[in-house]
Amino acid sequence: MEVNCVVDPDRFLANLHKLRSFGASGVGKGVVRPAYGEADIAARKWLAQQMADAGLRVEIDPMGNLFGLAEGKSLLLGSHSDSQPEGGWLDGALGVIAALEIARAAQETGGLSLSVVSFQDEEGRFGVTTGSAVWSGHLSQKDADGLTDHAGVALATARSRMAEMVTGPVDPAQFTGFIEMHIEQGPTLDATGEKIGVVTDIVGIRDMKITFDGQQNHAGTTPMHLRRDAFQAVSAFNALMNDRLQNVVTPQTVWTIGHVGLHPNASSIVPGRAVFSMQWRDADAARLGRIETVIRTTAAEIAEARGMTLSYGPLLGFEPVAMDARLQGALRAASEQIVSGQWRQMPSGALHDATNVSALMPVAMLFVPSINGISHAFEEDTDEADLVCGLRVLAQAVADLS
Ligand code: GLV
Ligand code: MN
Ligand code: MN
Repeated sequence: MEVNCVVDPDRFLANLHKLRSFGASGVGKGVVRPAYGEADIAARKWLAQQMADAGLRVEIDPMGNLFGLAEGKSLLLGSHSDSQPEGGWLDGALGVIAALEIARAAQETGGLSLSVVSFQDEEGRFGVTTGSAVWSGHLSQKDADGLTDHAGVALATARSRMAEMVTGPVDPAQFTGFIEMHIEQGPTLDATGEKIGVVTDIVGIRDMKITFDGQQNHAGTTPMHLRRDAFQAVSAFNALMNDRLQNVVTPQTVWTIGHVGLHPNASSIVPGRAVFSMQWRDADAARLGRIETVIRTTAAEIAEARGMTLSYGPLLGFEPVAMDARLQGALRAASEQIVSGQWRQMPSGALHDATNVSALMPVAMLFVPSINGISHAFEEDTDEADLVCGLRVLAQAVADLS
């Protein structure tokens, strides 16, 4: 069936820009729309109305995952509409709005049975892809509710802000598969000039909070050799990690300390406590385990040498996953049909809801280029012609699959 004749690129782009207006940062096209915040909830209400207008039945599960459901068994399309604390306009939003456009086109022509999802907290305000992690059974609701953000707010408290919107659990058995369209968020397609990436695998990830407790003290009177300075411990830990990991990693392995909280965080106080995030990603689950051993050994040595008490938060994470062969085949065929010779197969270095959903049903992903490979930043952008190209490839693949 030919769906490309009915998807409306102008409506698709207009809706993408409308979604950007929820939490627009005022800096470039950036957005500030973290999960369960005012802008996120307002965006979800708008999206729910769009789904209803498209002829889909709206359901919202207890985590705040928003579904627009077609009748009977359907293929699920979508992504997430929450953002990083400083995020781009396309990360997640692209997959949701493309799904909405294709499902609406399908309803208008009365052919394909397509449903739409916007998962909640993909960006991990409370963990790692928390909404789809709970929906897929990877994480229990009880364990999720106990997770806290960097400000100490519990997920249970945050999600209560959406309580009046919740309709109940959404049964995954009604879906035959899941396809997530996304920006690449890396430099590959931009550098080669190719239009589409058909994802083969998504890397694995580990993420945990580490705390060093030393001694808070006066920054003027405490001699350097008597200090138990928690920031100095983090700094020494990081330097040692960069050194030791050289023997363990590949050029594709990445590790990040992205958040550091110092207590009490004042110029004239030797910090007594440092809580920081440690995250690492790799395509090989065994290597993720070896890196964890280096982290724990190094942190223990630093704590011992500097008189720190060491503690860890829960170890969150996901194994690497492969995309479904049949769905990948449909994306490859559609790419060849629409952008012949201008696409490639590639792994995803970013994590996606597709990782969780792969525990429930066949999943696949396609990427469009990210200008200069920038994402998780206000500068994130993609040429609008490339966005439309991705929409057409996804629509064609979906049509071929039906
Ligand atoms: C998802 O946003 C990730 O951190 O890969
Ligand atoms: Mn994303
Ligand atoms: Mn993201």
